[in-house]
Amino acid sequence: MGNFPQGFLWGAATAAHQVEGDNVNSDFWVFENTPGSIFVEPSGDACDQYRLFASDIATLKGLGFNAYRFSIEWARVEPVPGRISKAALYHYREVLEACQANGMTPLVTMHHFTSPRWLMKVGGWEDTQTPQRFAAYVRAVMEELGSMIPYVCTINEANIGVLLRQMGVSLGGDGQAPVGMQLSEKEQAYRAWMQACAQELNAPPEKVKNFLFSASDQAIALVKQAHERAREAIKAARPQAQVGITLALQHIQPQPGGEEPAQRIQQEVYEQFLPAMADDDFTGAQNYTRQRVGPQGPLPNENGVELTQMNYEFYPEALEGVIRMVAKSGKPVIVTENGVATEDDSRRVAFIGRALAGVQRCLDDGLDVRGYMYWSALDNYEWMLGYRPKFGLIGVDRATQQRQVKESARYLGGIARANRLAS
Ligand code: GCO
Repeated sequence: MGNFPQGFLWGAATAAHQVEGDNVNSDFWVFENTPGSIFVEPSGDACDQYRLFASDIATLKGLGFNAYRFSIEWARVEPVPGRISKAALYHYREVLEACQANGMTPLVTMHHFTSPRWLMKVGGWEDTQTPQRFAAYVRAVMEELGSMIPYVCTINEANIGVLLRQMGVSLGGDGQAPVGMQLSEKEQAYRAWMQACAQELNAPPEKVKNFLFSASDQAIALVKQAHERAREAIKAARPQAQVGITLALQHIQPQPGGEEPAQRIQQEVYEQFLPAMADDDFTGAQNYTRQRVGPQGPLPNENGVELTQMNYEFYPEALEGVIRMVAKSGKPVIVTENGVATEDDSRRVAFIGRALAGVQRCLDDGLDVRGYMYWSALDNYEWMLGYRPKFGLIGVDRATQQRQVKESARYLGGIARANRLAS
């Protein structure tokens, strides 16, 4: 597989909470560890990447990659409101230095779902002050580390709340059951758990508004504002930094009669974010599968299709559709996540090969695609599903924290290396 442009970013992605371990100051830590949790297991030590980052980055470099996407954890940088931890910033300086030492271009995400637990006391992602709180944290990071950060993703999957709302999932602190999660019979338990979380957070239950599940119109407006304010803060500290947001995008495929609902979904999950992205330098596209839409809305998977561990249809061609869709905005596209959860690594190899063939067709047609970040570098903590889904190029024995490089890592790293040598 050849003909990727010179300077193409070949990477793998992670998120702090999913790999670092012991993120005790974050809101998710409370959700995971409060009895009655809907998380199947707590994140705990995760992949201990807080300690093992240097060898993980060196391993990726050795495999042929030239980029690493990771996130900075707000809860570590600002453990109490307004107090910036120099020690935490120093840690991320060391991560960035490890990238530099290995010739790996860092793509830094400022917010990847988790927030400091103190944010839940003041209304979380439904509070009008949150955009400026977020921008102040981003400013502190960029003032200290900006000279080492060429690419910034402000907010990961800014549209995740909308997607989850479409699926009927919510995690409000107000004790409302997550509609549609088939939890109706467990409603009481869910309420009790949310109350316990609020108590643990020392917050009124109605204030506990977690990022992932905040999808009211107000919350969506605040996320857009937070992105714009963060972008201003980044540009003020480092004008040449390339800034974008990332969006979770399924390839929407209207079936006969499904054109209108498909258009509505497209507007909600993507087009409504375009004004807030107008001054961005790139679009971060994240894709895992397609969504077929019929006259009544999203359709279930067809019988007999191959499913991933996430119960998504195995459909790597979706990435091409998503790139073609977002490229219409005229901005460069970086694939900030694409991947598959499977125990069978040969299916990962197949997935990556087919997804990259789609990227190549886009490039051949002149679309401006700047990079491909496979999700994920490591088998890691898949939020409510715990450690069961295996997305990683590199396996992790969590008892020993030993890494096992999989064939898929060699496959993708090999393509990266061959193209870098050829270009
Ligand atoms: C998301 C996140 C990642 C996930 C990945 C696999 O999309 O939810 O960005 O944190 O782990 O997408 O589901």
